[in-house]
Amino acid sequence: MKRGEGLLVVDVGTTKISALIGEEREGKLWATGLGVSPSQGLKRGCIINIEEATQSIKNAIDKALNQAKVEPTFVYTSIAGNHIKTYYGMGVIALRDKEVTPQDVEEVLKSAQTVDLPPNKLIIHVIPQEFVVDQNKGILHPVGMVGVRLEAHVQLITAERAHIQNLIKCFENLGLEVDGVIFQGLASAEAVLTPEEKELGVLLIDLGGGTSDLVIYKENVLRYAASLPLGGELLTGDLAICLRTTRAEAERIKIEKGVCLRELVNEEDFVEVPGIGHRPSTKISKKIVAEILEERVKELLTLIEAEIDKFSNTYFISGAVLTGGTSLIPGLIYLTDQILDLPARIGYPERLPGLTEEIYHPQFATAVGMLLYAYNNLIQGLEKAPKKKGFIEKLKELLKI
Ligand SMILES: Nc1ncnc2c1ncn2[C@@H]1O[C@H](COP(=O)(O)OP(=O)(O)OP(=O)(O)O)[C@@H](O)[C@H]1O
Ligand SMILES: [Mg+2]
Repeated sequence: MKRGEGLLVVDVGTTKISALIGEEREGKLWATGLGVSPSQGLKRGCIINIEEATQSIKNAIDKALNQAKVEPTFVYTSIAGNHIKTYYGMGVIALRDKEVTPQDVEEVLKSAQTVDLPPNKLIIHVIPQEFVVDQNKGILHPVGMVGVRLEAHVQLITAERAHIQNLIKCFENLGLEVDGVIFQGLASAEAVLTPEEKELGVLLIDLGGGTSDLVIYKENVLRYAASLPLGGELLTGDLAICLRTTRAEAERIKIEKGVCLRELVNEEDFVEVPGIGHRPSTKISKKIVAEILEERVKELLTLIEAEIDKFSNTYFISGAVLTGGTSLIPGLIYLTDQILDLPARIGYPERLPGLTEEIYHPQFATAVGMLLYAYNNLIQGLEKAPKKKGFIEKLKELLKI
């Protein structure tokens, strides 16, 4: 990245859109602009109203660009939802020069993508699991190795074509061309996992508002990815129904007083619950609130257990890392330990220079991870002109309408 170039990442979450701008300063990635806007037009990770989603994305981007004051050269956005699936792929080529070159690796990875996928699926990430040079297995970096045959085994992370198209359309509406779409779970993993965890084996759970993204790493390689259409909004919904109050009040009670373990609460503690319409407010034991949340969190963890059971028989995982806004609910670490039988911790994103404190929160794990992932893996060596000159001005014009 050159001086004055901006890397814009936009995490399109179910409850909020986070736009984050990265710049390179003294050979390091800095976070220099942040814009957050409540999400409209999204459900369980997917866009259901293009106009509303476009407006929310625009609000977030505008704030971030106003703060960073750069024109974005690269633009990446994110995707999640239960249409995210992983497929196995295998490719093989003959080595012309009897030694593996970077072009050979590119070619064999391309050949590994020729899988018979359903027509509505698009590949968003190709994750090499291992390369085999002649009879030599388990190779992660094959370049320079001598042999006559190169084989690649990969995991393909796919998303549904229509969901990607809807997402990209929102950016097109704003005159922005998207350079790539990143799976939210992969991005969060990039921001919160340590190299030791990735090596030993770890389950990352990004508990957001509408989705729970799952990623498993083992021996430094992403081995599995999924996205369940369940998140913190379900907890809020349960509270609203059971306490007979509005979603807004239920959300406030959840965040200010909610815990998901009844043992953590005193029998004598009460919360004031405003009634709907002009009904009087009532006092409800905090224990009841905890019981409602505990039941739903247990159910969520049981579904996660069923999902990872498909995988974890083959690999030993040594722990779990919880991130995303819902990871902050007290009691969750204990329940994860109980149900998944994995020691858990909360994942805060890596501290980047610049807006260090502003983005040091589990809710920004995905946005920070997108910045890191794009900077380290996607844009290195790419030369591009800044996106659409005068984009900030154009946005301002649009906002006036
Ligand atoms: N302190 C807290 N305790 C419990 N829940 C919280 C807390 N803070 C935030 N949340 C919940 O976190 C959720 C939002 O998390 P996050 O911002 O990670 O989601 P998102 O990225 O918008 O959605 P998704 O990734 O699922 O599409 C909301 O449901 C919110 O109620
Ligand atoms: Mg999220």
